[in-house]
Amino acid sequence: MANQLCIVLDFGGQYNQLIARRVRECGVYCEIKSYTTPIGEIRELDPMGIIFTGGPNSVYEESSPHISKEIFELGIPILGLCYGCQIVAYTLGGCVEACEKSEFGKIEITQKHETPIFKDIPEKNIVWMSHGDYVSKLPEGFYVTSQSADCPCASFENPEKKLYALQFHPEVTHSEFGKQMLRNFLYEVCCFSGDWVMDDFIDKTVAELREQIGDKNVILGLSGGVDSSVAAGLLSRAVGKQLTCVFVDQGLMRKDEGDFVEETFTKLFDMNFVRVNCKDKFLSALKGVTDPEKKRKIIGTEFYNVFWDKIREQGTDGFFAQGTIYPDRIESGKGNKAGHGKTDVIKTHHNMVEMPEDIQFAGTIEPLKDLFKDEVRAVGEKLGIPHDLVWRQPFPGPGLGVRILGEITENKIKVLQEADAVFRDEIRKSGIESELKQFFAVLPDVRTVGVMGDHRTYDHLIAIRAVTTDDFMTADWARIPYDVLARVSNRLTNEVEHVNRVVYDITSKPPGTVEWE
Ligand code: XMP
Repeated sequence: MANQLCIVLDFGGQYNQLIARRVRECGVYCEIKSYTTPIGEIRELDPMGIIFTGGPNSVYEESSPHISKEIFELGIPILGLCYGCQIVAYTLGGCVEACEKSEFGKIEITQKHETPIFKDIPEKNIVWMSHGDYVSKLPEGFYVTSQSADCPCASFENPEKKLYALQFHPEVTHSEFGKQMLRNFLYEVCCFSGDWVMDDFIDKTVAELREQIGDKNVILGLSGGVDSSVAAGLLSRAVGKQLTCVFVDQGLMRKDEGDFVEETFTKLFDMNFVRVNCKDKFLSALKGVTDPEKKRKIIGTEFYNVFWDKIREQGTDGFFAQGTIYPDRIESGKGNKAGHGKTDVIKTHHNMVEMPEDIQFAGTIEPLKDLFKDEVRAVGEKLGIPHDLVWRQPFPGPGLGVRILGEITENKIKVLQEADAVFRDEIRKSGIESELKQFFAVLPDVRTVGVMGDHRTYDHLIAIRAVTTDDFMTADWARIPYDVLARVSNRLTNEVEHVNRVVYDITSKPPGTVEWE
């Protein structure tokens, strides 16, 4: 049985995924579709509710994203947010104009008319506004349900046609009762039953996987990251030993990480676990190479050479599984350079590569293809995958290879692994781990002069990097307290052989990137 569906229609707003996640947090399955999706396709999907996202444009400009009136005739409840709210007014004959004074930030609204959207919400409450246009005249049949000091139509509706509009952003946490407003739309207006529950997801997916796979085999490439680990957990629960996980350890993982992955999966799950240790092969391919792009290329090419060879060896008469998740394949409303347009962009996975032509499976299985990262983690926890793996910070495909500048050697890997382990240990002990999105050590291949006892030393410099970010497109360096930095520096220079100096990277992105290479 398919879940009841809500559609988030994307007009290019920055919060499109956030809206979808909030809807799912309310127990309702939802998918993001471009505003260019044909009405016939929307009708076929049979959603019980539609939410229009915000967007950076002005509705009255010809080149802005617009939508056909037909969508309002489907009889499906619609909630327009920000630009989406203006689209409702504009398309149905209302007026949208530039504000005399743009509203931005936390703004108080006052309710003016009873509405299911504001059920159990105080008459005055704070919402997050971010708009330079406003609805100056409502279309026929609509009335105002709230206003702010500078916005006469902060929200409006036509309940007869089940059309609702909010000029603000209920999806962001700055809107005090935003989630309740979304919940009210979903439950009071659309009458969803709340059938999107992670426990059900596991049972349903396991049953579907069993049905699809039958008595065939499945091969999954395990990276030690969250997505492939959770996919492995689900597949193991579904088909046990019919699953083979191939784990390529190129020797560039963090300290003891390869062993941890092997131990976790062999102990926890019923499956065939194949670990390919190929550090020496990688090191000899990387010998003498210092150019960052060349190093990345060699690591990537070698990795897939080893991986595909192993796959050929295992046999390809069954299915190939991968840990693709929903954000990897969302169609975006942002098509062309103007930030909108007809051409949909499909985001491809960071490390997606094409399968060689001689390898042909019966099909591909992507058990997490409909989940957001938070949901993947929730499933991982329920499957009993250890906390450290489920909450693992992002780790680049080329591993420590992008954190050792210059030539990569066995000794440098060892120094960096030790340094990184000390840094991570101190961050964990300091209690600030959850505030940081990513933190790690870098070996810049710089030696400096130091002094130890009566001796002069000439040894490695270690750089430490910690960032805060929402999406990794931009990032800021984390303000780690001085006493934590002092402990890290002290331990690195005392405990890690060949380290005599420590620096903290205080570069934001842009202009820096998170990784050093
Ligand atoms: P940058 O360095 O581009 O990193 O600011 C942004 C995020 O992406 C991760 N990263 C990678 N992840 N394969 C990956 O799977 C890669 O080649 C790669 N390069 C960078 C990086 O760790 C950060 O989280």
